[in-house]
Parts: sequence; C-alpha cells; structure tokens
Amino acid sequence: MMTLVTGGAGYIGSHVVKQLLETTEEEILVVDNLSTGTQGRIDTLQAIRPFTFIRQDLNEWEKLETLFDEHDVGAILHFAAFIVVPESVSEPVKYYMNNTVNTTKLIDIAMRHDVKKFIFSSTAAVYGEPEITQVSEMTATEPINPYGMSKLMSENVLRDATYAQKDFKHVIFRYFNVAGAAVDGSIGQSFPNATHLIKVAAQTALGKREEIFVFGTDYDTPDGTAIRDYIHVEDLAAAHLKALSYLDTSESDTFNVGYGHGFSVNEVLATMKEVSEIDYKITMNPRRAGDPAQLISNNSKIKELMGWQSRHDSIALICKTALDWERKI
Ligand SMILES: NC(=O)c1ccc[n+]([C@@H]2O[C@H](COP(=O)([O-])OP(=O)(O)OC[C@H]3O[C@@H](n4cnc5c(N)ncnc54)[C@H](O)[C@@H]3O)[C@@H](O)[C@H]2O)c1
Repeated sequence: MMTLVTGGAGYIGSHVVKQLLETTEEEILVVDNLSTGTQGRIDTLQAIRPFTFIRQDLNEWEKLETLFDEHDVGAILHFAAFIVVPESVSEPVKYYMNNTVNTTKLIDIAMRHDVKKFIFSSTAAVYGEPEITQVSEMTATEPINPYGMSKLMSENVLRDATYAQKDFKHVIFRYFNVAGAAVDGSIGQSFPNATHLIKVAAQTALGKREEIFVFGTDYDTPDGTAIRDYIHVEDLAAAHLKALSYLDTSESDTFNVGYGHGFSVNEVLATMKEVSEIDYKITMNPRRAGDPAQLISNNSKIKELMGWQSRHDSIALICKTALDWERKI
C-alpha cells in the first residue's frame, strides 16, 4: 500500500516526505501542482530514495479518481492548501475552493477507495483570538479569517466522514508557527513573498530585504511585542510519522503541535541578529487587526497520547537553520 502526500513539494510536506524516505520503507506517492512547491525539492528528495511524483492539481477530480484507481493508497497526508492569511481575506473563494472543496473531494474519493488513514494539516488559526494564552484542543474554535475558517470547515468534514465510516480514521494536526529548515541543510522554505517572521528576518539579515517590520509594540506582553509558539519543521514532520503508527491502534483525534512556550517578536529578531552576527534594520509599526497578543499551544495531548517529543526546541537553532537555508537559495 502506498502513502499519498499531497503538497509534498511544499515546505512542510517535503520535510515529512524526507523523513518517510529516510526512516521507513513505505512506498510514497506525491501529488503537487507546484503552485508554491518546487521541482527542486522533489529532485532533492528523489536522491534519497526514488518515489512517484505526479504533477497535478487536486481540482482535477477525474484525474484524481483515476489516480486512486491506479494506485493502492492506504494512507493520505494532506498538506496541499493555500496558506496566506491576508490573501484569504481578499480572495476568500479561492481559499474555500482549494482548502475546503478540494479537501472534501479528496475525502470522498479516499472513502470510496478504502483508504484507512487521513492526516490533515490544520492550523492554530482555527482558534482565532482566544482570551487565554495557552490553547488546548478543547479551546473554542472561532477563526477570524477565511484561511482559518477554510481549515476548520475541512476539519468538520473529516470528523463527520470518519464517524460515518469507522475504518477510515483521521488525525488532525493544528500547527503553531512552523519555522526553520532541515538541519542537514538539504531543504527549507522557498515560499515566494514569505510572510513568516523567521524567514523574513533571515532574508533581512542577508540583505534580501532592506528592513523588517514589527507590527505592534504595545501588547500586554513583557516587551510589548506579540508572542508565538515557534516549532522547528523537523519536529513537526516527526509528528506525522507518529500519527501514521498511532492510527494502527488508536481512534481518530485532533492534536495541537507546538512547543508549549513562546518567544516575542523582539526576542526572535534579537536571536536572528545573534546567530547571523548582522545588525539589520527593524521598523516598528502599529498593530495589525486580528493578531492576538499571545498564541501558545498546550501540547500535553500529543506528548501523552502519541509519545511525541521535541528534538529541536531551540529558537537559536530554528533561526540558524532558516538563515543557513536562506544563504543557500
Ligand atoms: N507554514 C505554516 O506555518 C503552517 C501553519 C499552520 C498550518 N499549515 C498548513 O500546512 C500545510 C502545508 O503548508 P506549507 O507551509 O508547507 O505551504 P506550501 O505552500 O509550502 O505547501 C503547500 C503545497 O501544496 C501545493 N498545492 C497547493 N494547492 C494545491 C492543489 N490544488 N493541488 C496540488 N497541489 C497543491 C503547493 O504547490 C505546495 O507544494 C498547509 O495545509 C497549511 O495550511 C502551515
């Protein structure tokens, strides 16, 4: 049986494919339209161990159906999505079509082709602007933008689908702020016009941007800038391999994936200056709408039920791997 990875040419998906290729003998099938994913990542991954790559859009439903007819897919890791929050506000339908409609169709086809496991990439954005700082999986889900809502809707479709068909199981992962690059330097984040703080800080340190903007310096946090839970992409990837074996013996469930503690924007920018030894320009701006002061995961559930543990819980390492990758590209 094959493991299908949608969006495997993207940032997070490629790190998961890398670990699957390196640590398992599973047959891998990657489907990606290369809208933000890159052929370069596929080539790097193919050098580890050959696997099947099909360049295809998930909205080509007939082709997708044929793909499942022709390949014996036992598990799906579904990363393919659009992920830029401001764009989701200006082009909401684009987000609902790709993130919710295509996901629903994928679930439909999977159920009719006897797929047993579905691992879904959700996001802490489903929590919106929670009153509490450390959110658990039980915290109310009240997304404040179409991106978060498109993911929450897919979560609900998946929960209902797996409830109705008991041998079709899911793990939903709500990622916090994913950052960094492979410690061996082979892959990293190449998203065009990236908005992620650590990536942008690395670009600014290397002179690819003139300055970096901080949004909000008057939050109720020790230094006034917003605090987030940054997780190294390889620790996040490892959770997906855990999830595949978890579902052999356990029931469907939803998990936060983060480190359970956070760093302020100022702390991150200072760390990037330290590891790069470059004093780049930082410009302070007012707050943006919809940015909570703090968003930190309660990660006890994934630790207790899946036995997941972090290996790279160091903001310096996260910044350094992001910087090394940025130098390489
Ligand atoms: N990066 C983060 O911090 C973060 C945080 C929370 C959740 N997530 C989720 O993780 C997943 C992966 O995010 P990423 O950061 O790797 O983004 P990414 O853009 O690097 O990866 C997405 C991949 O999916 C592909 N894709 C998109 N739409 C497609 C379609 N219709 N058909 C085929 N391929 C398609 C893209 O080409 C790309 O390779 C997404 O579902 C995202 O919502 C990411």
